[in-house]
Amino acid sequence: MQYQDKKPEDQILVIFGATGDLTRRKLMPALFELEVLNMLPEKFVILGVGRSSISDSDFREQNKNALKDAITRVADKKKIKGFSDRLFYLQADTQSEESYMALSEKLQLLRKQNSIQPFNLIFYLSTPPSLYEVIPRLLANASLNDESEGWKRIIIEKPFGYDLQSAIQLNESLKKSWKENQLFRIDHYLGKETVQNVLVTRFSNGIFEPLWNRNFIHHVEITSAENFGVANRAGYYDQSGAIRDMVQNHLLQLVGLIAMEPPASMDADAIRNETVKVLQSLRPLSEKDVAENTIRGQYTESTIKGNKVKAYRSEEGVAADSQTETYAALKFYIDNWRWGGVPFYIRTGKHLPTRVTEAVIHFKPTPHYLFAQQEDCNACNQLIIRIQPDEGILIKFGMKTPGAGFNVQNVSMNFHYNDLSEVRIPDAYERLLLDAMIGDSTLYARIDAVFAAWKFIQPVLEAWKNNADIPLHGYPAGTWGPDIADELIEEADMGWRYPCAALTGDDNYCAL
Ligand code: BG6
Repeated sequence: MQYQDKKPEDQILVIFGATGDLTRRKLMPALFELEVLNMLPEKFVILGVGRSSISDSDFREQNKNALKDAITRVADKKKIKGFSDRLFYLQADTQSEESYMALSEKLQLLRKQNSIQPFNLIFYLSTPPSLYEVIPRLLANASLNDESEGWKRIIIEKPFGYDLQSAIQLNESLKKSWKENQLFRIDHYLGKETVQNVLVTRFSNGIFEPLWNRNFIHHVEITSAENFGVANRAGYYDQSGAIRDMVQNHLLQLVGLIAMEPPASMDADAIRNETVKVLQSLRPLSEKDVAENTIRGQYTESTIKGNKVKAYRSEEGVAADSQTETYAALKFYIDNWRWGGVPFYIRTGKHLPTRVTEAVIHFKPTPHYLFAQQEDCNACNQLIIRIQPDEGILIKFGMKTPGAGFNVQNVSMNFHYNDLSEVRIPDAYERLLLDAMIGDSTLYARIDAVFAAWKFIQPVLEAWKNNADIPLHGYPAGTWGPDIADELIEEADMGWRYPCAALTGDDNYCAL
């Protein structure tokens, strides 16, 4: 597996929030995979920064144990020790100016001990979003943005801002001491192989593109479902909710790729220019639109497979009267020539029946029903692009039921992405970390796209906050969200697909 033809230059990666969930679950396993694939720089160390008072060896032990659990391949397990030797730790209060003096000294020491030349530094902010303004400012005060002896980059996790205004403010603050080419705004969906495959599916095949417009497409549906709750992330999630956590970033980026015009080339800016045009063409939602075309929900207590599941409001760290949505569904339009009049539907939620992300392109039915029962087959003629799991593509169409008469039945043709090769599908963070180490920002979110997405979402945030007539519906954990979401799609026979973990399944509650 080769994502980039060149190896990154020697550098130090500093992870703020080094003992947090994201570092343990995503960043360390991704960095370890890069180690196994021999893609890390020759001279490379990782400095974890966190509040916990632990030593380098505690930090190594913690990560070794987490990696042992995450990595199943025996041959690779042997490499964990070598990888953990690259890890160092610094206890610091990231809000205090003095910490950055200590950080600077530690970095100089690591640089010397490991002969890292030039002094290339990459800072990963895996912290609560409230620190996204503070850390870069204090890094700059300590001259850790200075590129005279080597480049300096910052990777900022999503959400970039809390709403449009705060995103603008954050950008203004970052711009004071960092240049655009030093900033990497991560949206890990863009690093997913299958999200990138949307481009290949659309633009390497003559058969899809002619149909990819308002003349042939009835509507587009995107689902990102998760079959677990907020786990130990309530502190962050309760301030965020599904719309900020998933829709403003991951799902709108996916809309951008599904709806974009063909780019002039595969150049970073050519692609980002086209996706941003889609986001800028989203029809603004009025308060009435929000009331009629959005649904918000919150999971309630339930029993799933015999196990009791807590209501969201009973989760540790969640306010007992929390109004935060764990489910969001939206209907909206893209006002441009390709998509004029085609509704797009998005839904996402925690504690739904299964974990699945997919886009369903619903083609228009034939103009006239020639066969008896054909109208029962409105769900025929779908193209399903499965992002995860069981990554692949499924086409559904009508076929003659064998026997007398001309009865039509819905059949499926599917392709499973992992049939392509033996190679496992790499995790998005592997690709994105490597790209940032190399300085390639193609798969990172550009600021105009971030602003366009916030601009679209802003009326939803406002109406949900201020208009008490827009209900927050309860839905029992383990179900497909509030029933009323079915009414968003007007044609009952063309409603949401209820996917299963397996690509070909769509039996309503198959996951239970
Ligand atoms: C994160 C969200 O960005 O994406 C999480 O903060 C969510 O709440 C996750 O669970 C989903 O990512 P993936 O790659 O598992 O679909």
